[in-house]
Amino acid sequence: MKPARPLLSLAEMRPPDARDGASRTAAPHPPRTTPRRRRRPTVRRVEVPVVGLDPRLSGLTIAHLSDIHVSALSRPRLLERALDLVSAERAELALLTGDYVCLSLRSLPRFAAALRRLAVPALATLGNHDHNAGAAEVSATLLAAGIRVLRNEHATVRLRGAELHVVGVDDGATHHADPDRAFRAVPAAGLRIALTHDPRQTDRVAAHRPHLILAGHTHGGQVDVPGVTRRIMRRRGFHYLGGEYEVLGARVYVNRGLGASLPLRVRVPSEIAFLTLVSAP
Ligand SMILES: [Fe+2]
Repeated sequence: MKPARPLLSLAEMRPPDARDGASRTAAPHPPRTTPRRRRRPTVRRVEVPVVGLDPRLSGLTIAHLSDIHVSALSRPRLLERALDLVSAERAELALLTGDYVCLSLRSLPRFAAALRRLAVPALATLGNHDHNAGAAEVSATLLAAGIRVLRNEHATVRLRGAELHVVGVDDGATHHADPDRAFRAVPAAGLRIALTHDPRQTDRVAAHRPHLILAGHTHGGQVDVPGVTRRIMRRRGFHYLGGEYEVLGARVYVNRGLGASLPLRVRVPSEIAFLTLVSAP
């Protein structure tokens, strides 16, 4: 069994040797028996400008995964492909924003096995499905894989010799979110990245002035009917449905997710996001 990776707060990561173009197309092709779109997630690459960014963190790429929803209905190869892409894209950190399971804990062993492919330090928050199925068991699985779970708390990571504060706000849909507590001890200096499963917490989280907020939960609407889905989601309080936003000066990325409770997606493909930090003028 592969040994667990060290917790991020203790990790000192080396930058990659080079960010050559070849590394961005390194994922192998799936067999032709299944359409490619069903076997590989869409890769979203996003630049995140940060005012006053520590030059050592310029060019750092963070992988963002959300709403994996491992279950008997999910496609196992999709998660494996996504985790392989983390290495292929030369991400130096992975951040996960909840809903690893779906309704039950039955597929947790399969999730744990897939996590062995993740070769970079990682931090996570929990989602509503994790709380409903068993927050303790899901957290233990993540921790056994070396992934620290942040529940209304923060961890300081050292990457390339610079400090980066990851703030995990627990799930809002199940009434566990406490942004005030999560940010209470976060140092003023250094980059601040907040994780929250439920993007309806975005405004509360942004009030604490992080540089970047990552969220999930919406699946981008999952079934996108033009003019209808967005309206329905807005009525349910989802003003940040998927993609990039800016709120109170914070960059926001709402991941459309890798899986779904019911594996039906229309015009909203499964995705993994890679966010690259750049210095803002
Ligand atoms: Fe969710």
